[in-house]
Amino acid sequence: MVQPGSISDALRFYADAGIDEVIGDTPVDRFKESRTVAAKAATSRPTAPKRNRAEQPPAARPPTAVGPAEAEASARELAAAAMDLGALRSALDGFDACPLKKTAANLVFGDGNPNAEVMLIGEAPGADEDRQGLPFVGVSGQLLDRMLASIGLDRDGAYITNILPWRPPGNRKPTAEETTMCLPFIRRHIELVAPAVLVFVGGTSAANLLGRSEGITKLRGRWFDYPAGDRMIAAMPIFHPAYLLRQPALKRQAWADLLAIKAKLAERE
Ligand code: URA
Repeated sequence: MVQPGSISDALRFYADAGIDEVIGDTPVDRFKESRTVAAKAATSRPTAPKRNRAEQPPAARPPTAVGPAEAEASARELAAAAMDLGALRSALDGFDACPLKKTAANLVFGDGNPNAEVMLIGEAPGADEDRQGLPFVGVSGQLLDRMLASIGLDRDGAYITNILPWRPPGNRKPTAEETTMCLPFIRRHIELVAPAVLVFVGGTSAANLLGRSEGITKLRGRWFDYPAGDRMIAAMPIFHPAYLLRQPALKRQAWADLLAIKAKLAERE
């Protein structure tokens, strides 16, 4: 008999562990799956001739996970080899070193117009983005769309992506290692889109791409030069829409930043 408290306790336990959505209609017994795989492997393995103890080979070690430095080096190599956005997406599809990839449902690559003058870069996909494979489609994405509309832009007039292409489980903050190993991909993404203006949406995006330690309150509303290949791109950090939803009083400053971005784009016309 299930005790009344135990269901809510179980749900709380799941939520704390980052399990915050149902992705299938029927439960999957992963223990059974791995028992079946192990049993199949045992029956199909050819039996080795018996050796005496001294001849036994050392016990097989589990495959070693790629370390962060190696992962970053491999990301740098893969990203540099990508000559267009399709190739960059394929490179990310084939990059297995980031642990976030294992728990995400989809790769979230980008959305909007890659020929647009302005490119926006957020932090990482959330649950809605992970489900749809598109950036900024949840509640904060809807606010971002309204922010863009206020300066006459939509997804045909802007290109949107994130510094991390996979959702961190339970929307936790990405670790420094996860971010560092994915940075070569977003840096190459910027080079390939080559926008006139970059907008870093939120502190994580701004700090990592500018290599700065200040928080978003200090960075927002200021123009920085972002080096992309052989040119500099004008880049402005703005408050993340999820932050604005929690702190609506900051919308005033966000509005000033949007007007500055609009003016920068107008200078180019
Ligand atoms: N927050 C982000 O930073 N990116 C998204 O795509 C969604 C929410």
